[in-house]
Amino acid sequence: MTGSPQKQVLVTLHVNGEAQSVAVAAQATLLEALRYGLGLTGSKQGCDKGDCGACTVLARPLDDAQARADGCGARGEPILACITLAQDAQTLALTTIEGLASPQGLDPIQQAFADCGALQCGFCQPGMMLSARALLDHTPRPSLPQIQQALSGNLCRCTGYTKIYEAVQVAAGTREPSQGVPVRSEPAPGVSGPRVAVEEIAP
Ligand code: FES
Ligand code: FES
Repeated sequence: MTGSPQKQVLVTLHVNGEAQSVAVAAQATLLEALRYGLGLTGSKQGCDKGDCGACTVLARPLDDAQARADGCGARGEPILACITLAQDAQTLALTTIEGLASPQGLDPIQQAFADCGALQCGFCQPGMMLSARALLDHTPRPSLPQIQQALSGNLCRCTGYTKIYEAVQVAAGTREPSQGVPVRSEPAPGVSGPRVAVEEIAP
């Protein structure tokens, strides 16, 4: 038995300076519309329930005058695309990670994350970078507690946060990247006593 077909609606999203129309299920989230409708897979689908920040995009009202009145920065505020209805996002100007770099090159946030080695698997990075971008748009030279607060909704399972905070400080120009001197590994202490041959055990 097949279920009844989902009702489709046409939504127009203003993403990275371009208006694009796409047919989505009526209850589709903004994240689903971006990833599966428009092919913008930089926004990640982590928890899909508003907990991890992997789906963060920046949003401001389409009307610039209203954006100024609201005190929004150049690209707006971070929102969670996984708990935003695609239909409701039609009044917003959105910036995803695909729109963060400019024709002149990487955004300073992206460059600093690379320079500081502030990523491992990269799954959290789009959301981290966009939250950091919003912070620097409002507060060009934030304190460490301000950085920690701004990124508190973005979870990283790999790196710890030290290098991430460092990268935001580097992008803000408040510190230099740490010297990446490799940590020298020490040889294991010698084993006293006769060596014992190890026999391989066939599976
Ligand atoms: S995917 Fe985790 S908050 Fe959206
Ligand atoms: S680098 Fe893997 S989750 Fe952050």
